[in-house]
Amino acid sequence: MSAEDDVKWVEVATLDDIWEGDVLDAEVDGEEVLIVHLPGGELRCFQGMCPHQEILLADGQIDFETGVITCSAHEWQFSMDDGRGLNPKDCRLFQYQVKKEGETVLVGVPLDGRLRRLRHRAQQDA
Ligand code: FES
Repeated sequence: MSAEDDVKWVEVATLDDIWEGDVLDAEVDGEEVLIVHLPGGELRCFQGMCPHQEILLADGQIDFETGVITCSAHEWQFSMDDGRGLNPKDCRLFQYQVKKEGETVLVGVPLDGRLRRLRHRAQQDA
């Protein structure tokens, strides 16, 4: 992940929009993102589109007990720790930096132009 000064911080929401134990989908700099507010207060932010067939992950199942995000379309699963693929394991979600400033939630958009919507290999070749 980039150092803080390698990103452009974008205001996305307030803590009123995303309570602990909830998720929020939003658009940041032209890309869908999924913000996860963990019980306890920590925030995570991932690409919002499934790497399989670009279905919104916010429409899937978010299980805070197991820390697993399950896509609604074909039940691919991802860890909300770091976005790694759990099933299948050969793909992952792009993870954004995210922080709070007072009540405001900000997402860090990388300035290096790298791809922020990762796809599964089979989809890249399609
Ligand atoms: S589109 Fe998400 S699992 Fe197929």
